[in-house]
Amino acid sequence: MTGGEAGRAVDFALTGRTALVTGAAGGLGRAFAVALAGAGADIVLTDLPGVDLEPTRTAVEATGRTARAMPFDLADTAGLAGFVDEVRAAAGPLHILVNNAGTAALERFNEISVASWRRVLTVNLDAVFFLSQRVAEHQIADRVAGRIIAVTSKNAHVAEAGLAHYNASKAGVDLLVQSLAVELAPHGITVNAVAPGMVETPIDGEFPLDREPFEAAYRERIPLGRYAAPDECAGAVVFLAAPAASYVTGTRIVVDGGVLADQMPRMRHMPPYRTSL
Ligand SMILES: NC(=O)c1ccc[n+]([C@@H]2O[C@H](COP(=O)([O-])OP(=O)(O)OC[C@H]3O[C@@H](n4cnc5c(N)ncnc54)[C@H](O)[C@@H]3O)[C@@H](O)[C@H]2O)c1
Repeated sequence: MTGGEAGRAVDFALTGRTALVTGAAGGLGRAFAVALAGAGADIVLTDLPGVDLEPTRTAVEATGRTARAMPFDLADTAGLAGFVDEVRAAAGPLHILVNNAGTAALERFNEISVASWRRVLTVNLDAVFFLSQRVAEHQIADRVAGRIIAVTSKNAHVAEAGLAHYNASKAGVDLLVQSLAVELAPHGITVNAVAPGMVETPIDGEFPLDREPFEAAYRERIPLGRYAAPDECAGAVVFLAAPAASYVTGTRIVVDGGVLADQMPRMRHMPPYRTSL
């Protein structure tokens, strides 16, 4: 038998690990932080200065694990290495990094200004790279079998109108994940993405669109027929962080209710199922 012991129990426990979660005040960030803590990890929460991390901190502490809030603006690319050094100094070895923070704006391609393009690419792509770079350096120095996870999107794989910058940023992260996975494999560090579909969070709250008809039409395009709750995306993150995923690297888990699996809305135009089903 090679590659593992026969009969070994599948291990999802994160006891003794510390995870840094970005965008931890947001819908998905909070769900990821709480789920990782539920599996046994202590959590460092970060988000923009001035954004309230207390609800996430309280929810993490309710699991019995520790939560440390360390706000930072990820758009400060030059400051990212120093920020990671501060987190390492305060919290000890960083076993898990969840690059979850993200930003989006709904703008036609010819309305996207240089400032808007730079804002989306800086937060969604540049920060993921430079945060991962420094965390991985610490993981190597600390000799931990690190886990780096990036939250991308179904938009990394198929475009969506009005989101050229967002789509490009997420596709960039998807290939970045492969690049880092290859370079970090010799150190026992895995790098993977989780690609959510439509999730009930505030991220598109400011989008200028006719929300109700859009969401109703979109729901019809989702094979599972509904948006995800944030905690429905958390299992993929816990899995990728866990010992159970020790041989999973350079790939992604799509959590989109089947959207990317479905090329066209044919189901709506087919005869009903036979009554025997
Ligand atoms: N909600 C969805 O439908 C959906 C779908 C696919 C992917 N995603 C991705 O999931 C991730 C989480 O998004 P969410 O839906 O929870 O949205 P959200 O808006 O609730 O959370 C995003 C968080 O990122 C933080 N953030 C933004 N800019 C930052 C900066 N410069 N520095 C530090 N923190 C910053 C925000 O303050 C916020 O707390 C994002 O990467 C997003 O692109 C979301």
